[in-house]
Amino acid sequence: MAKRNATEFLKTEYDALVAQSLDWRIKKLEGPSEAHAVVDGKKVLMLCSNNYLNLSNHPRLKEAAIKAIQTHGAGSGSVRAIAGTMNLHLQLEKKIASFKHAEAALYYQTGFAANAGLIPQLVGEGDVVISDELNHGSIIDGVRLSKAERAIYKHCDVGDLERVLKELDARPTPPRRIIVITDGVFSMDGDIAPLKDIVNAAEVHGAMVYVDDAHGDGVLGEGGRGIVNHFHLEGKVHVEMGTFSKAFGVVGGSIAGSKDLVAFALNKSRTWLLSGSAPPATAAACIAALEVLETEPQHFKKLWDNTNYFKKELQALGFDTGVSQTPITPVMVGESGKAKSLSEKLFEQGVFALPIVFPMVAKDKARIRTMVNAGLSREDLNFALNAFEKAGKELSII
Ligand SMILES: Cc1ncc(COP(=O)(O)O)c(C=O)c1O
Repeated sequence: MAKRNATEFLKTEYDALVAQSLDWRIKKLEGPSEAHAVVDGKKVLMLCSNNYLNLSNHPRLKEAAIKAIQTHGAGSGSVRAIAGTMNLHLQLEKKIASFKHAEAALYYQTGFAANAGLIPQLVGEGDVVISDELNHGSIIDGVRLSKAERAIYKHCDVGDLERVLKELDARPTPPRRIIVITDGVFSMDGDIAPLKDIVNAAEVHGAMVYVDDAHGDGVLGEGGRGIVNHFHLEGKVHVEMGTFSKAFGVVGGSIAGSKDLVAFALNKSRTWLLSGSAPPATAAACIAALEVLETEPQHFKKLWDNTNYFKKELQALGFDTGVSQTPITPVMVGESGKAKSLSEKLFEQGVFALPIVFPMVAKDKARIRTMVNAGLSREDLNFALNAFEKAGKELSII
C-alpha cells in the first residue's frame, strides 16, 4: 500500500470549493459595525450585519465594557463552573430572565455553544428530536451530538409536525421523550415560525418545545422581548434560546425558562462546563444592551419603520422579497452567478449586501440577503434602493 499523505486533502478539498465558487472570500471591516462602515477600504452602507438595533457601537455598551475591564480585568480566569462565574454573569442572567418574563436564565459564551451544549443533554437514546427542515446549523450540530433519533418536518408545516408526532406515539414502544425544535425567525428567508400552533401540537403529545430565537431577540415581541412574548406564550415554551451576537450587538448565547431547566442545563451542558466563560466586558455590555432596550425604545421603532419602508419600496421596484416578515429581507434572484453579480454591482455603488447561494439555499433560490438595521436613515435606504434599481435593471432582474 502506498504511504498515505496526511494532509493532501486540505488543498484538494479547498481547491474543489474554489473551482465551484463555493469558497468564502472574506471582506474586512475597518472600524465599527455601523450603518456607514468601511469595508475593504471602501465606505459602504451596511445591509448585511445582524446588528439590527445598531447597538454594537452604542456609547452605553462601550462604557459598560470599559468600566468592567477596569473593575474586573480582561478575562474571567476559568470556566463558569469552577472559578469563572463573576457577579456580572449572574447579574446578566437575572436581567435576561426578567426581560424574558421567565423564571430563570443561563448565559453561554455563544448561541452556538448553547445549542451544541444543551440539545444533546435534553435527549438521548430512546428519544426523538423533531426538527424543522430549515433549522440553523447550530441546531443540526446539537442534534448530531445526541444519541436521539431524528425526524424532520416540512418547513413551518404544523400539519406535517402533527403527522410525525402521531406516528411516534402510535409505535408499540413510543419514545421516552420528544422534543420539537424550531428557529423562531428563519435566517435565510426572514419568516416567523408558527410557534403557537407548534406549542399546541406538542402539548397534546407531551413533547418539549425548544425555540432558537437568535433573529427574534431584540426584533420581535414587546420592545424586542422575542418570539415567545410576540405570541404571548410565556411559560409554555420549555426552552427559549437566544443570542447577544445579533440585535443586542455584543456576543453570547442564552436560554430562558424554568428554574428546573436552568439547574439542569448548568449541570449538564458540556460547552458551559468545559469552556472558559465570557470576559467581564462582554457580560457588562450585554447587561447594558438589555438596559438600552428597556429605556430607549426608539431603536426598536426605527428598526421596524426601516424594515417596512425598505421592503415596500423593493417590492414597488419589482423585486421579489420572498416570504419575509422581519428585517431579514431576501431579494430573490434565482441563479447563483446572477446573485453574485448583483452583490458585486451593489458593492461598486457603495452598498454592502452579500449573496446567499447553494448549498446554503437551493440551487434555484439564490438571493441577496439584506438585513435592515436601525442605524440607517431614510436617505440611506433611498440610496440603497437606487443602487438596487440600477443593478437590478442591468442584470434584467426587474
Ligand atoms: C438561528 C441561529 N441560531 C444560532 C446562531 C448562533 O448564534 P451565535 O452567533 O451566538 O453563536 C445563529 C447565528 O448565526 C443563528 O442564526
